[in-house]
Amino acid sequence: MALVTTTEMFKKAYEGGYAIGAFNVNNMEIVQGITEAAGELKSPLILQVSAGARKYANHTYLVKLVEAALIENDIPIALHLDHGADFEICKSCIDGGFTSVMIDGSHHSFEDNIELTKRVVEYAHSKGVVVEGELGQLAGIEDDVNVSAEDAKYTHPDEVEEFVSRTGVDSLAIAIGTSHGAFKFKPGQKPQLRFDILDEISKRLPNFPIVLHGASSVSQEYVKIIQANGGNLQDAIGIPEDMLRQAAKSAVCKINIDSDLRLAMTAGIREVLWNNPAAFDPREYLKVGRANVKALVAHKITNVLGSDGKA
Ligand code: G3H
Ligand code: 13P
Ligand code: ZN
Repeated sequence: MALVTTTEMFKKAYEGGYAIGAFNVNNMEIVQGITEAAGELKSPLILQVSAGARKYANHTYLVKLVEAALIENDIPIALHLDHGADFEICKSCIDGGFTSVMIDGSHHSFEDNIELTKRVVEYAHSKGVVVEGELGQLAGIEDDVNVSAEDAKYTHPDEVEEFVSRTGVDSLAIAIGTSHGAFKFKPGQKPQLRFDILDEISKRLPNFPIVLHGASSVSQEYVKIIQANGGNLQDAIGIPEDMLRQAAKSAVCKINIDSDLRLAMTAGIREVLWNNPAAFDPREYLKVGRANVKALVAHKITNVLGSDGKA
């Protein structure tokens, strides 16, 4: 199967009350772990690549790894640029084989965000590629932009219709209290998402796919393994999975997960190296990291997203 856009995936997910997992990829083992899980569970999938991933692994390597995964797994896969910061990186990914891009103009003024997003949409649509825009600001770190919790801003429901109609975006990322990274809430703080804002936005945008960034749940199981094997991740805390299940049943059609993959991979590698300091064959520890990634993605697909059997 060739790469697909997210159009059909989102339509079915919206109607079926489930969400598609968008998992960040940085190397072969991560691509393999994610796609093997989705392939066995017959789940549609979005593989997303950040600017940092392109810098680390090289655009061509990542595209070719995803093409290999398409040969090995008979499921629909979209290849998406995560947090495109400007027109140039979006164009480069569109020209370089991606089927979906995000233009993240959320740090700009409303008018500048519209202008930038519209420009990307015009180019992308002329090439058959879909576009995700963003309104509102999440806290956390993505590439070189670090937004503090105090500076994070919820999406204003009264801006969404104008943004979508003037830009022509195919999906919209919103800020309702999720954030990037493994430290999403302060110790003692009760995790909370603004489902009232999500409801208001979905009323104003009927049948329109909403995207949730910063949706890792930061499994305490992996945090404990990392802690027990010489790591230091005290106070790491994520979005409770029951909140993500609730979101997946709503207009949210795409749920972004990266930190959970990093924790799963690192927990496996740390465990091998801590227990066997003489190990030096990368296959010995990377295969454990890869198996953890696969188990994590299978859990998300089956128990959180509800996308199993929907390919
Ligand atoms: O939202 C950000 C993603 O987790 C990507 O992170 O920029 O470190 O690759 P990265
Ligand atoms: P997490 O850091 O919660 O995994 O969020 C990932 C993300 O939003 C990628 O765009
Ligand atoms: Zn994100």
